[in-house]
Amino acid sequence: MAIINLTINGKSKQVDVDPNTPVLWVLRDHLDLVGTKFGCGIAQCGACTIHLDGTAVRSCSLPVSSAEGAEITTIEGLSEKGDHPLQEAWIEHDVPQCGYCQAGQIMTAAALLKDNPSPSDEEIEDAMNGNICRCGTYLRIKAAVKTAAQKL
Ligand code: FES
Ligand code: FES
Repeated sequence: MAIINLTINGKSKQVDVDPNTPVLWVLRDHLDLVGTKFGCGIAQCGACTIHLDGTAVRSCSLPVSSAEGAEITTIEGLSEKGDHPLQEAWIEHDVPQCGYCQAGQIMTAAALLKDNPSPSDEEIEDAMNGNICRCGTYLRIKAAVKTAAQKL
């Protein structure tokens, strides 16, 4: 066990955990930030996507010791009132079905739009490609990303 200092959604947090613990478990089990979901646990589905210094990463496969000193953003911290243009577009397009994958989808899309505010269809498909949705909401996700890009 070790004391790990983290910055999550703009706030300083301290946890006493095995340094190899994946960030996902620290978020969910130690900090009660359960918006980030566990899907596969092996970096294959994208359900656990968060931002590390603005880059989309898979928190299930990121040891918490590697996140010290970085700025972590989770779905809870994407916007203060749930009004990020992506969140509004998700509602407008009625994207979620079961909802399980959607936090990861939005975090991946947010990283895309931060780097590329006006992505082409192909760039959206490439960026979102690794986020699996068992409910098949891909067409709505793509439409919502485009709507959000227009608002940005
Ligand atoms: S739970 Fe992390 S990629 Fe699937
Ligand atoms: S909305 Fe059900 S897995 Fe994506």
